[in-house]
Parts: sequence; C-alpha cells; structure tokens
Amino acid sequence: MAFPKFKLLSFLSIAGVASASSMIRHKRRAALPVGFTRQGAAPASEMLTLRVGLTSNNINGLQDRLVSVSTPGSTDFHQWLSMDDVKAYVQLSPSTIDAFNSFASANGLQPNVVSPNGDWLSITLSISQATALFAANFEQFTHPNITTPLTRTLSVSLPEELIGHVEVLHPTTAFNTPTPRLASSRTARSRLSRRTIPPDSCLGPEDTITPACLQTLYSHACDPDEQHPPSDRIR
Ligand SMILES: *[C@@H]1O[C@H](CO)[C@@H](O)[C@H](O)[C@H]1NC(C)=O
Repeated sequence: MAFPKFKLLSFLSIAGVASASSMIRHKRRAALPVGFTRQGAAPASEMLTLRVGLTSNNINGLQDRLVSVSTPGSTDFHQWLSMDDVKAYVQLSPSTIDAFNSFASANGLQPNVVSPNGDWLSITLSISQATALFAANFEQFTHPNITTPLTRTLSVSLPEELIGHVEVLHPTTAFNTPTPRLASSRTARSRLSRRTIPPDSCLGPEDTITPACLQTLYSHACDPDEQHPPSDRIR
C-alpha cells in the first residue's frame, strides 16, 4: 500500500514542478531589513506552515459602505452594519474556493480553515515542496534580538491559476522587526490572550458594530506594539 502512495506523491510533485512555467511573481524584497543576517538555505525536509489569505469577494464595496456609514448626509449615515452585512462583503466567491481547493488537492495539501469567514487557511508542507510550488528560495535568517532563526524567502510567486484568488502568503517575504517588548514570550502571550477577548464596547446586544467598538479596536490597532503579532516565534 505504501508503494503506490509513494508513486502517487512523486507524480504529484512532478506535476507541481511542470506547472512552474506559469508562475507569476507575487512579492519580492530587494534587500534584508536592518539587523537580519542570512544563514543559508532552510533544510529541504523541514516543515513549514503557511497562512494563506484568500481574496474577499468585495472588500472595496465594504470600504465604500463604511465611508458612507460615517459620512453625514449620506443615505447610509449611521446605518451600522451587522455581522451578516460584513460577511456578505468579505466572504469568498465560489471561484476562489474552487481555485484554491483544486490547487491544494492537485498538490496533496490539506488546508485548515483558521478564520471565521474561511478567508484564512493554513497549509503545512516541506520547504522543498513550498520552494517548488511558489518558486521560492527559503533561507534562514538570524537577528541579534530574536532567539529562533526565521525562515523566509526574498521572492515568492503564485501559479497562474491562483492569481486574483490568493492575496497573502505568510510567512514568505515579510520580516517582523523585533521589539524588546515582544522578545519576552511571557509578555507576548499575555498580550495575545488579551486580544482574543472582544472589548466590552463590542459586546452589544444587537450584534452590531458601534462607534465605541470601532474606536476601541482601532486604538488597539494603532498601538505600535500590536502591529506584529509574535506568531513567528510560536511556530
Ligand atoms: C536589539 O534591541 C536593543 C534593545 O532594545 C536595541 O537597542 C537594538 O537596536 C536592537 N538591535 C537591532 C539590530 O535591532
């Protein structure tokens, strides 16, 4: 039973490499951020978990609606959105779901949904498979203020069939610049667990987004220590 399975997997990885002709560059970083040092190729057999942000069906529509909700004189002024209203804008289109599912199954990947609306997935694959599937070159990078090396690539591409469907692939080219605050894992953990509890102002009875709730969420988002969740070091 193990032999046919092995043959199937090697056929799939050949198929993955064969589609490399239609790769489209997704992100590229010309230089390393200050403080990081290249330590050489990441081990090919090491496993990597990537977060995949799929494209919402109408994020521009949501932005327009939020502007009109907050613009005095517009017909939507103060017509707050319910969770379902928001969901209608951010949910995935069937073609995005199909495109990612076909890509995943053709390459033996098992995506896990990691967000309430299904727009964030995680996939776990070897460095060598990630290198082939995304025309990447994963290397390890150290920084004096980080205890574990980061695995990153300076360039990442997407197969043509995922263009318009995948918006974010992380971690690939993004480097979190460490702060002394995040270097303490105890502090990071307590900040992280605090973030999972919605602020009181967001716990209204009618499932609506209120100005007080937005204000609380946005002042959190503006806290420079909160911009880079320390997920890299929890891998
Ligand atoms: C490391 O952290 C120290 C203390 O906050 C800081 O002064 C230094 O600039 C950091 N080093 C790098 C390379 O960012």
